[in-house]
Amino acid sequence: MSPTAPRPERHHDAPHGSHRPGPGKERAHGAGHAHDHPGHDSGTQAEILDLDAEVLAGHLASVVAWLPLAGGPRHVVDLGSGTGAGTFALLARFPEARVTAVDASAAHLQRLREKACAQGLEDRVRTVQADLDTTWPELGTPGLVWASASLHHMADPDATLRRVHDSLAPGGLLAVIELAGFPRFLPEDAPADRPGLEDRCHAASERYHAEHVPHRGADWGPRLTAAGFAVEGERTIEVHVEGSRSPAIGRYALSSLERLRTTVAGVLSPGDLAALDRLLDHGSPDGLLHRDDLAVRTERTVWAARRA
Ligand SMILES: C[S@@+](CC[C@H](N)C(=O)[O-])C[C@H]1O[C@@H](n2cnc3c(N)ncnc32)[C@H](O)[C@@H]1O
Repeated sequence: MSPTAPRPERHHDAPHGSHRPGPGKERAHGAGHAHDHPGHDSGTQAEILDLDAEVLAGHLASVVAWLPLAGGPRHVVDLGSGTGAGTFALLARFPEARVTAVDASAAHLQRLREKACAQGLEDRVRTVQADLDTTWPELGTPGLVWASASLHHMADPDATLRRVHDSLAPGGLLAVIELAGFPRFLPEDAPADRPGLEDRCHAASERYHAEHVPHRGADWGPRLTAAGFAVEGERTIEVHVEGSRSPAIGRYALSSLERLRTTVAGVLSPGDLAALDRLLDHGSPDGLLHRDDLAVRTERTVWAARRA
């Protein structure tokens, strides 16, 4: 597909294929961010981010491959890197590049460094701990900035976009990736005694996020333009990964719905909450870890924006 296509593109990826998120609604790591969900430690979020990267690795690689870059950038910044899903995809795609991973979480960056060492990539990765709401670290002049599922967490993302714009090398590219809501895992008629449970959990989660994470689901195109970028491409990917034979998808569903529970437990009906808890029960035959009817369904949108 043309990286310069002006209109959003619908792209259906095959099961077990490639990946990425969309707007309107939330982050597919559906999973994960400190501002998103109350009561979660960074370990839980890190686990979800790692599973997200594992399950959707092909989708992520396809997004990186789609970016309109004539040559390989030598210096890349991964803004809100988490545990490094984007960092490692970018290192793989651009073998000459070094990546600076920036995140507020020391624990995520530690995990990222450990993974880099395990893969012999430590010389190509620099980590910078910074809360980008309060501090803008020295990042040099990157040719590519990657911001996946992180912008909507910023207190003032428009200010962040202006900072990114000014720090990019002339002609440099910003890739913004955002997710369309929490991923879905269950068939619509499951669980048998409470069909539609996942939909009701999502509706409750959406109400929570509308109040607490107002930038989630934004249309980033106009905001990129307002920050001085020329938007060269926008791509929406519908992700559908069948999970019947993937233990990682069971673990991903479990971690994600455990996290979702903390947001919605207070507003679900007692019957729905009990059904959700049966799904989360590791020992239950109906629990997520033992089901063979799971899939990952989500939507992700990528914007490619150029500094003139
Ligand atoms: C949902 S995670 C996405 C991580 C990673 N980009 C990925 O796609 O897997 C969002 C990340 O943004 C980071 N983050 C959120 N607000 C931030 C801020 N103000 N400054 C720096 N990092 C922030 C979080 O710590 C978290 O690692």
